[in-house]
Amino acid sequence: MTEFNPITEATAPGKIILFGEHAVVYGRPAIAAPISQLRARATVSPSSSNNCYLIAPDLNRHNRLQDLPDDDALALAARLVLKAGQIETIPDVTIRVNSQIPIASGMGSGAAIAAAIIRALAQHLNRADLQSNEMVSALTYEVEKIHHGTPSGIDNTVVAYEQPIYFVRQSPQNQIEPFTVAAPLRFVVADTGVRSSTKVAVGDVRRQYSQQPAQFARIFDECGRIAQDARQAIEAGDVQRVGQLMTKNHAWLQTMTVSSPELDNLVAAALQAGALGAKLSGAGRGGNMLALVENAEMETAVRAALTQAGATAVLTTVLS
Ligand code: MEV
Repeated sequence: MTEFNPITEATAPGKIILFGEHAVVYGRPAIAAPISQLRARATVSPSSSNNCYLIAPDLNRHNRLQDLPDDDALALAARLVLKAGQIETIPDVTIRVNSQIPIASGMGSGAAIAAAIIRALAQHLNRADLQSNEMVSALTYEVEKIHHGTPSGIDNTVVAYEQPIYFVRQSPQNQIEPFTVAAPLRFVVADTGVRSSTKVAVGDVRRQYSQQPAQFARIFDECGRIAQDARQAIEAGDVQRVGQLMTKNHAWLQTMTVSSPELDNLVAAALQAGALGAKLSGAGRGGNMLALVENAEMETAVRAALTQAGATAVLTTVLS
């Protein structure tokens, strides 16, 4: 009989998309990085009652797994582990989840929560085969399909592998490449405070693409080229160029209609305060934007400008 671990805990980070969101859904390259200081956490402990409970105080959730519908994201994360492990009897455990990652803000909170549940439960079940980055990413991808119908796979990949990646969605296997960051990149991340649905934004882009296929294919191509150029600039330590490419990418995202007055306002404020570049990050319409800064002095000025312009939260993350 399998020995279950008594209490297990796992975490997964939030993420930012540096280049290529939306176009990545259509097979163009994109670049993403984890935000390790913002994490989702799951613990699994034996339950005294004969049930599996899912508790998420932040989301006001306290349910028995068996009572939850098929399209419940937390329940699906747990069920996928049991299915992948061919475990037919639901274990008597309590799965507790909390997260520091703001929801519906483009930071991959759904993917991080799923990845944390999958890892913690796989550990509890003592199943090394279910804990590999590849497996965690694949199962998280299945959960992501609930959050938005046609995920590219970039969010689950970056939260499962927890490293900066150059990503291309392709069959039979996505291209996932870690890359060298020749000079540290200091990003100020600012929240518009507006929550927005990835599913709606991705759906709107799809509708526009089907109405104007040639025009949108060209926009996606431009974003893909920017991501390729950005990778080269990051590998060459050309920080100025990385900034210029971010601002250029933002303009294409505006053309795709996924920016918003709040995002444009924060991007303008960051650029005005001297940022090397700025863009929305993630699905857009709300959520977070990024500004690239060169040094501590610029960081202070950009952070102050973003707060002044109405950002509800501001943090700095360094990619090195
Ligand atoms: C969301 O973080 C990124 C999008 O490109 C959607 C996806 O890649 O699945 C908007």
